[in-house]
This record gives sequence, structure tokens and C-alpha cells, in this order.
Amino acid sequence: MVAAGETAWSAVNRTAQTVAALRRLEVLLHGEQALIVDPTLEHLLEQDRFDDAQLAGIRLPAHCGAALPALAAWLAEAAEDPDARRLRQHVDRLAIRTARIDALLDEMLPTVEQCVILGAGLDTRAWRLASTAGVRMFEVDFAQVLDFKAARLAKLPLVCDARRAVVGDVTTSDLGARLAAAGFERGRPTVWLVEGVIVYLTDAQIAGLNDNLASLSAPGSRVIATFMGEGVSGMFSAGMISRFDDAPALLARYGWRARQEHYADIAREYGRDYPDDYTVYLVHTEPRA
Ligand SMILES: C[S@@+](CC[C@H](N)C(=O)[O-])C[C@H]1O[C@@H](n2cnc3c(N)ncnc32)[C@H](O)[C@@H]1O
Repeated sequence: MVAAGETAWSAVNRTAQTVAALRRLEVLLHGEQALIVDPTLEHLLEQDRFDDAQLAGIRLPAHCGAALPALAAWLAEAAEDPDARRLRQHVDRLAIRTARIDALLDEMLPTVEQCVILGAGLDTRAWRLASTAGVRMFEVDFAQVLDFKAARLAKLPLVCDARRAVVGDVTTSDLGARLAAAGFERGRPTVWLVEGVIVYLTDAQIAGLNDNLASLSAPGSRVIATFMGEGVSGMFSAGMISRFDDAPALLARYGWRARQEHYADIAREYGRDYPDDYTVYLVHTEPRA
């Protein structure tokens, strides 16, 4: 719940809101050609606004106010402005990542009955992704994020079979108990999604998260995760601390066979340009043995 005197903005985790705003900018910029189809975004971003002076570390032009449509118009017009170029690159990053993860889920979800989104933030797939039908979705994040989302989306119909919000830290050893209390079945294969989260974790937290994934994954389980590498100069969001250029080697230590894709390669598949030296990766595993 949003406490008295607290704005909706301060009640939600800023990084989750940033990601939602970048996804909305993709839709506003590209219309029917957008890589994201997400009618829930307008419910998450009240009045199509992003109420902060900066987005993904970029100061927003004053004339846009907080309005995302005005910001999209500026991005379209000011193509040579360095700030606009950097912000468009962030929009592309989110669009590429969202579209590719949607496609991976479309491939993986028909083989499982449960999917857990760790650090779910304002992920809206339970409401919009057709392949979640017949799947129980568990979303883990901190209470303020899940409460904000529930307040905005609770009235919208779900696409998935059922959605359970699970409050708490994804890196601590009580995760299994909290998931089980929400109906998660440890003996069944699971698709795990860890999108835009690992970059915020310390080495010890990443170890805790990986221990959880390994111990809670029945045979047939799979993981989709995103990583940032050393080539990402100047972290644009506070708290981005971890970097990996060989995520499959990390995951192999926990029994996973994983494939890593650079966003620049994914971008080419979607007809977008993305810089090769900006090392952001999408990683997905084979089914666990
Ligand atoms: C950048 S947002 C990404 C949200 C979502 N996965 C997406 O891509 O739209 C990161 C999210 O991870 C959550 N998060 C970060 N560390 C966490 C932790 N240790 N336990 C649970 N959630 C965490 C934050 O609260 C935030 O909602």
C-alpha cells in the first residue's frame, strides 16, 4: 500500500519504473513496428508520465515535462543530440531484451506448469503473454514494488493460469519456503526468469541466488537471465555493481549448460542497430539434467 504522505513514485522501486518507462517509449516511438506489444503499460505509468528529472541517468529536457509522449517526440526529432541518442539506445536495449525473452518464454513455457520471475518488478507477462496461459506464475520482489503493481494492475484480466506475488529477497535461503507457501511445487520443472536483476547484486548475493536456483530446480527446469559485462562504461543506474562477460561459466558451476547472446546479435535479428562494444547479454539454459 502507498502510505499517507508518500507518492506512488516514491513507493515503487525506481529501477522497475525506469524499465517500464523505457518499454513505453519503445511503443510510443515505433507504433505498430514496436518490438513490444503491452497494453498494460498505460495502467502502470499513470497518465503516461515518468515523474523524475532523469531517466536511465539522462537528464530529460525541461520542455517535455514528465510526459512520455513528449519525450518520445523529442527522441524522434533530436536524433543528433547525444542525450537523445543515449536514451534511444536504452529504449532499444529494453525492446530487444523484452522481445527476445518473450520469444524464449513462448518456446519454453509449453513444457512446464510453473514459472518464477525473480526480481519481477513491473514485469507484465502474466497479463499479456499468451504462452503463460496454463502456467502458474510466481513473481518475487520487495513488498513496495509488488504492492504498487497490484494497485495498478489488479483489475486487469490475467492471461496466465494463476499469478502469485511472493514478497522477499531472491538471494536468501528462505526463498524455497516462501515460494512453497504460495503453491510452488519443487518437484516440477520450472522456467526461471531473472531479468535486469543480477547487475544489482553483490558476489555473495549472486551465490545465494544461484544456490536457490540449483536447489529448487527439478529436472527439466530452465533459466533465462540478463547480465552486463565490463564494456558497459559508467553504470547509468545507482547500484549496478556486478559484471560478467562469461555468464555460462558462472552458471556451469551450478550445473547449468547455458548459451549467451550479445544484444547486438539479437538486435540484428530484429532489424535494429546496437553497439557491439556495449556488452549486455541474454543467457538461457538447456533443461536441467
Ligand atoms: C531493473 S528492475 C527489473 C524488473 C523486471 N525484471 C523487468 O525487467 O522489468 C529490478 C528489480 O529487481 C528487484 N530486486 C533487486 N534485488 C532484489 C532482491 N535481492 N530480491 C528481490 N528483488 C530484487 C527490484 O526491486 C526491482 O523490481
